[in-house]
Amino acid sequence: MTEPVKVTVFGLGFVGLPLALSFAMRGCKVYGVDVNEELVAELKAGITHHLEAYHSTPIQKILKDQLAAGRFIPTTDASEALTNSDNFIVTVGIPVKEGRADYSHIEAVSKTIARGLKPNDLVLIRSTVVPGTTRNVIKPILEELSGLKADEDFYLAYSSERIAEGRAFEEFENMPTLVSGVDRASRDRAAKLLSIVTKADLIPCSSMEVVETAKVMENVSRDVNIAMVNEFARFTKALGIDIFEVIKAANTHTRVNLLLPGPGVGGYCIPNAFHYLAPKAEELGVNLSLTRIAREINEQVPERVVTMIKRNMTPELPPVVAVFGLAMKDYSNDDRISPAIRIVELLQREGITVQAFDPAVPTRYEFKKESMAEALEGAQGIVVLARQEGIDFHNYDLFRSKLIGERPFIVDTRNVYRREMVEAAGLVLETI
Ligand SMILES: NC(=O)c1ccc[n+]([C@@H]2O[C@H](COP(=O)([O-])OP(=O)(O)OC[C@H]3O[C@@H](n4cnc5c(N)ncnc54)[C@H](O)[C@@H]3O)[C@@H](O)[C@H]2O)c1
Repeated sequence: MTEPVKVTVFGLGFVGLPLALSFAMRGCKVYGVDVNEELVAELKAGITHHLEAYHSTPIQKILKDQLAAGRFIPTTDASEALTNSDNFIVTVGIPVKEGRADYSHIEAVSKTIARGLKPNDLVLIRSTVVPGTTRNVIKPILEELSGLKADEDFYLAYSSERIAEGRAFEEFENMPTLVSGVDRASRDRAAKLLSIVTKADLIPCSSMEVVETAKVMENVSRDVNIAMVNEFARFTKALGIDIFEVIKAANTHTRVNLLLPGPGVGGYCIPNAFHYLAPKAEELGVNLSLTRIAREINEQVPERVVTMIKRNMTPELPPVVAVFGLAMKDYSNDDRISPAIRIVELLQREGITVQAFDPAVPTRYEFKKESMAEALEGAQGIVVLARQEGIDFHNYDLFRSKLIGERPFIVDTRNVYRREMVEAAGLVLETI
């Protein structure tokens, strides 16, 4: 019998966990290393809050099956993984704090790997990074602490991760994947490893910087596109026509692909992307005015949504609103950098009480309620910030029985409602 391929995935978050399980499902022995003790304890117990599935099998079942088969070993201690495997995949992020990329996590994981690195090991970076990070930040740490050299003793490669949360398993398998390395041998070794989980094209690129930069630009291009449609939404609203209908019409042009406006842009990837490009651009003396303005436009949308909510509220009534959906996008459990959370903060700052309902987001907030009815109780209106399974968006009887005032309202940022239906139910609708 041939030995299973041994892989260690560092970081067991939205990318790392489904990636680790994708290798385990295909017979690899996979160590998953994360510094978050609570997360690792939950994973060991077969618990995850992620909303992923592979061909209708939920990630919860996949996790339990792979734990039971002994093919997935979550741990906070990297030492066994470093001794027993020879493929190290990094999915640890670079957070942005006050506009600055924070390298501390990626540096820490590089040090952990370096201390156990062996000749002929592969280190494959899949995090989204500031262009140049693999060569200029990670490689020196690996070499210095291990005493090994990247293009002589071990393999070092970069392959961007392009999945969307909620479609991770399917996109690991089917999304064309870019790959490059410090040398050709590193690139080929990484491509061979990736071919275990992907059936799609593995596209070799001439340098790691090409792949790193392409990834950041993919994300920035979405930020700019969304900023554009958020601006278009202001125009169509003033004109008295529906932005979603306009976009649907415009997208029938085969070379046009407008994204959808919403309450802002959230999640880890898109809001951070500009801040990965900006410091490098500054260093190179390149002005990124368009991308900077796009970021600013998207950051301002939550304030616009708050203005919409306030103008629908009756000053004589208790200042309470119900919020449906706290995730950074529809059908997600991820509330990192979520515009919904920003909107709640701004509302609270205005003295407005928020009662939110989101059955998918596990984060505890004092303003989060256990049911739709609790969120609606005594509110003047509803603000829709993300679609979720488990939110009954058309339960008008419940809305009427719980909402107060003569003109209860819905502010819809997600194109959930048709005006005729809402008005027939006796509510006022405002869309973005
Ligand atoms: N979320 C997405 O949809 C997505 C898509 C494509 C690319 N990416 C990129 O992938 C990377 C990971 O994103 P994510 O959404 O999975 O983030 P995440 O925060 O969900 O997961 C990162 C994990 O790394 C762990 N970690 C931090 N320091 C560590 C260390 N020293 N050793 C081991 N583990 C450590 C954290 O505890 C966390 O669980 C980021 O670079 C992100 O930009 C994310």
